[in-house]
Amino acid sequence: MAKRTITDTLRLSSSHPIPQLGFGVYKSPPELCIQSCLTALRAGYRHIDTAQYYANEAEVGEAIRQAAPQVSRADVFLTTKILSPEASAEENYAKCVESVKKLDAGSEGKDGYVDLFLIHSPNCGGAENRKMLWQALERLHQEGKAKSIGVSNFGIQHIEELKAFAQVWPPHVNQIELHPWSQQTEIVAYCEKHNIAIEAYCPLVRNTKAADPTLAKVAEKHGVTPNQVLVRYCLERGWIPLPKSDNEGRIRNNADVYGFALDEGDMEKLNGLNQGAEGAIVQAVDN
Ligand SMILES: NC(=O)c1ccc[n+]([C@@H]2O[C@H](COP(=O)([O-])OP(=O)(O)OC[C@H]3O[C@@H](n4cnc5c(N)ncnc54)[C@H](OP(=O)(O)O)[C@@H]3O)[C@@H](O)[C@H]2O)c1
Repeated sequence: MAKRTITDTLRLSSSHPIPQLGFGVYKSPPELCIQSCLTALRAGYRHIDTAQYYANEAEVGEAIRQAAPQVSRADVFLTTKILSPEASAEENYAKCVESVKKLDAGSEGKDGYVDLFLIHSPNCGGAENRKMLWQALERLHQEGKAKSIGVSNFGIQHIEELKAFAQVWPPHVNQIELHPWSQQTEIVAYCEKHNIAIEAYCPLVRNTKAADPTLAKVAEKHGVTPNQVLVRYCLERGWIPLPKSDNEGRIRNNADVYGFALDEGDMEKLNGLNQGAEGAIVQAVDN
């Protein structure tokens, strides 16, 4: 297999490429977020994951503007998400368009767009709300305002439910909590079967497992940090990790994962840490 590099992309079923390493900005406060995104872009990340709920879409958009001309809008993959539904499909759509404008106002006669828009959670007030949110995303997709659309925290039942009315099915992406302690094998197998790209949130388990002896041993063997092993683990699994940091050294460290490779034995040890739903620190999906 060819050597992995920071420029590696995966192909979504929408036909668009997605950089396999992403940069998360949950809890990145507005006063730090622009700088953190600029640091990430300088370190080689080309994919940023935000959400309406994170209240920093405008800062991510500002970072992209400030990064030009060294890095242009077209070079970066931008994701956002809608969490709270409004009363109608029309209002949901309008709320999503606001996000697109914050992230990319467009330029020189070209309309702005996001690369990926997700329904943040299936826990949004029931099937009717999920349907309205999906239809709003489909409209954005049709109009070119979202190049790809997908879901987050969706179990098998929620993805199957969309089939009844969806124009776009399967969703291009499912973003879920994934790391060695929460491998979510059922939904992962389902997504692989249906060619739904799998994004891994909390890939660093929010630094709560850095002292785990199995992880520490693998890190020591390769002369890297435990968090570097966790990012590399996701890449080896074919997932799209979204490590977050607001610290320059850690932003760089989390992306510096291409000078070593995990072998079969390492992967076996890390896979052996799975605790099923118990291992999730945010939430496991409900299949
Ligand atoms: N769809 C969803 O429901 C959902 C849920 C959660 C997260 N997400 C997405 O996934 C991204 C990642 O998840 P997350 O932010 O919850 O957790 P994470 O990336 O696993 O961990 C982030 C935490 O670890 C610390 N950290 C980062 N690098 C480190 C390092 N090298 N050494 C020690 N500590 C380090 C960060 O602090 P510093 O900033 O101080 O470095 C931060 O507190 C989010 O930012 C968001 O984009 C999505």
